[in-house]
Amino acid sequence: MLAFYNGEFIESTEKIVSLEDRGYLFGDGVYEVVRIYNGKPFMLEEHLERLKNSAEALHIPMPYSDEEFKQYIAEGLNRLNESNVDIYMQITRGSAPRNHVFDKDIQPVTAMIFRKSKKIADDIRENGGSVLLREDQRWANCYIKSLNLLPNILAKNEAAEKGCYEAIFYKDNVVTEGSASNIFVVKNNELYTTPLHKGILPGITRIAVLKVAKELNIIIHEEFFTPHFLKEADECFVTSTTSEVLPITIVEGEKISNGKVGELTKNIYEGFKELTK
Ligand code: PDD
Repeated sequence: MLAFYNGEFIESTEKIVSLEDRGYLFGDGVYEVVRIYNGKPFMLEEHLERLKNSAEALHIPMPYSDEEFKQYIAEGLNRLNESNVDIYMQITRGSAPRNHVFDKDIQPVTAMIFRKSKKIADDIRENGGSVLLREDQRWANCYIKSLNLLPNILAKNEAAEKGCYEAIFYKDNVVTEGSASNIFVVKNNELYTTPLHKGILPGITRIAVLKVAKELNIIIHEEFFTPHFLKEADECFVTSTTSEVLPITIVEGEKISNGKVGELTKNIYEGFKELTK
């Protein structure tokens, strides 16, 4: 697959990463996933802004300006010659003899992988997916999109093994987010989502959905809610760059409401698709 490594375009499987890269040794780095629709990056400015915030929080200097990133992305898209693409972007702190303390001369390492977008299975897109509820065992700074994803991948794997689409986390009896998504519920035609705080990722798709909901004159509550409130919801969906707006119809084996994809969810998905055109 086409990849980018520190200014050069290479094959993603090329043996090029130093074994002493701190991303490899410590998960010491940050990432983004950006989607390209019909050749156009979707909300790239917002992704670059979040990448900068994540890097800054970990004291990793940005290797490129926004303009340089945009140029490399344009070049990668040209080379790949696909119109619907997912770009994985990663910056690690760099390579140095293993030591918890940062080497003072260390230089960040930037990688990108360009891959044709994967379509969500029609059945899940049309009929909704199911989710597990699991305790959020992650650290307190999940607003940083860091490479450390062990609790996320373990929860998502458990979900996949049980035939579920996603695992939704809760902490102290409030729902936080999915293992790789933000969560929304609808109750009495009003929309609820966890408020931004350090415990969740400020999703870019979340921003798009809030914009669509506002345009549809839906009342929005950015408020904490409990797992019980989620189970008793009228509708539910999760959002992410790769899942877009994905209906959830089953929580822990129980149907949400009548178990059908809700009207508001459908309308918001339609509005979201318009934004990507
Ligand atoms: N994940 N919360 C978590 C924990 C996530 O990992 C993601 C996205 C989101 C949604 O963010 P956005 O709408 O900006 O994609 C929320 C990406 C897609 C991933 O790790 O593959």
